[in-house]
Order: sequence, then structure tokens, then C-alpha cells
Amino acid sequence: MRLADDPVAFDVVDNIAWVRFNRPEKRNCMNPTLNRRMMEVLADLEYRDDVGVLVLSGEGTAWSAGMDLKEYFRESEEKGLGAVRKSQQEAYGWWRRLRWYQKPTIAMVNGWCFGGGYGPLFSCDLAFASHEAQFALSEINWGILPGGGATKVVADLLSMRDAMYHALTGELIDGKKAAEWKLVNESVPLAELKTRVKQVADVLLSKNPVALKATKDALRRVAEMTYDSAEDYLVRAQEAANSFDNEGRKQGIHQFIDEKTYKPGLGAYDK
Ligand code: ACO
Repeated sequence: MRLADDPVAFDVVDNIAWVRFNRPEKRNCMNPTLNRRMMEVLADLEYRDDVGVLVLSGEGTAWSAGMDLKEYFRESEEKGLGAVRKSQQEAYGWWRRLRWYQKPTIAMVNGWCFGGGYGPLFSCDLAFASHEAQFALSEINWGILPGGGATKVVADLLSMRDAMYHALTGELIDGKKAAEWKLVNESVPLAELKTRVKQVADVLLSKNPVALKATKDALRRVAEMTYDSAEDYLVRAQEAANSFDNEGRKQGIHQFIDEKTYKPGLGAYDK
């Protein structure tokens, strides 16, 4: 199923897709090859009937050491603006796909998590870290601002004071502090991390999958809405979930394509 040099590894066991950053020798930093491969793997797994929950972790001592400073930054910049924008789109693209993923997602942060790693961390619906994991917005340590959404992630999840301290100092925090700051849901000893994540994944697997998708999207959407807009959105989202299979629409296509009894550009189908 996977090659030793594949930058993304995965297994599907008991309806859980265990996806792993797989560049342990480079502390799982994200280069363009990894970003392209991650998009493929996510796409392949998203609608599989045997996948109900996706867990993202890292091989070796890192979850992800952020963006690959050599390949993602330096080498793209040497090729020019077009290459820079392409690399950004590849990275942001899979983070966005993961943010709105069909199945619930859990970040299992087993080790180092830096900078650009906060993008996929936030994309995952839930996050569990080991006590031993180490997090930092290290951008300030090499002279850039936390881009690629990282600033937005800490502004959304942390208090203003903690976010500001974290971004301005670049200091490491461990998994316990990350849980205290609500960057992750919980932290547990590394030896117990997979067991705890499996326990949570099994809870999710016992729920209605349409309701899970509607709920996770609703939580992200309403955060940006007024109360009244949220109320309206939630009524409509629930009704959309209730009528997921819209027969009338199928009839409309059938009468145009197969029966050729009407033209949608000129009138309505026969109900
Ligand atoms: N970009 C490019 N290469 C990296 C990165 C990275 N982000 N992180 C690690 N590597 C490479 C190292 O250059 C080294 O390569 P080499 O074996 O060819 O020399 C290899 O991975 C192993 O790294 P070490 O530093 O030897 O590993 P160690 O376990 O001692 O340290 C640590 C781990 C602390 C994660 C260190 O590698 C590090 O500081 N990495 C950079 C973290 C960072 O600040 N990332 C950028 C965040 S900002 C952003 O993402 C936009």
C-alpha cells in the first residue's frame, strides 16, 4: 500500500484512517512533494465507505516541523513568484480540504509541531497531544511573521495575551501547556496517546455520519456569524441534512437527459 519513500503513510484499521506525515528524517517538515501527496491521500480516503474517522499523526519524533525551509521556501523563491504561489496553493489546498473534510478528523500530535504545522493542526476537528510534544510559532526566530494561517489559528484558539506571547517570543510550549491554552483538546503521556485517540475515534464512529459532518461544518461556520445569521444557517443546515437525497432534482436531470421531454433552459420539469 505504501512505499518507504512515500512522504505520506497510511493504514485503514477498523474504520479509522491513520494518516502519517512520513519524512521522519526531516522531522516531517512539509515540502511540495509531501503537500501534493497529502492532497492525493486525503482525496482517496475521503469518501471510502470503510473510513469513518481520519487521524493525522507523524512518523518518528515529530508531528511536523512546519514548512520545509529549503524546498518550500528557498527553492520555490529561487524559481520566482509563480513557484512560490504554486507551493502555497498546494499546502493551503490540502489544509482547506481537511478543514471541511467529509469525515471527522483528529490531530494526534506525537512530537514537534512548528509554524506551518498549525495549519493542519487547526484543520483537524479535534486535537490530542502527548505531554512530551513541543509546539512553537518559530517564525519569529528566523525573521518572518507566522503566515499560512498560523497567526489566524492562534488568534482564534488562544487568548490574545497567550497568542501574542507565543508569536512574539517563539518559545516552545509542551503538550500540557498546549492543552491549558486550548491549542489542543487534551494531552496525555505519549505511551497513552494512541489509545486515547482510538477511544475518541470510536465514540465518533458510533454517531450518525451525516450529523457529524453537519455539526463540524456548523461549528466552524457559525463562529463567523451574528446570532441571527447563525440561527438561520442552522435551521437550513439541519433541513438540508434531513433531505440529503433530493429526488426532484434527479427527476429534472432524468427528464432532460434520458426522456428528452423538456429543456431546463426553457421551462420546468414535470413534477
Ligand atoms: N525545514 C527544512 N529542514 C528541516 C526542517 C524544516 N522545517 N526541520 C528539520 N529539518 C531537517 C534538518 O535540516 C535536518 O536535515 P539534515 O539531516 O539533512 O541535516 C533534519 O531535518 C533533522 O533535523 P535536526 O535539526 O537534526 O533534528 P533535531 O531532532 O535535532 O531537531 C527540530 C528537531 C527542533 C524540529 C529542528 O529540526 C528544527 O528546529 N527544525 C525547524 C523547525 C521550524 O522552525 N520550522 C519552521 C516553522 S515556520 C514555518 O513553518 C512557516
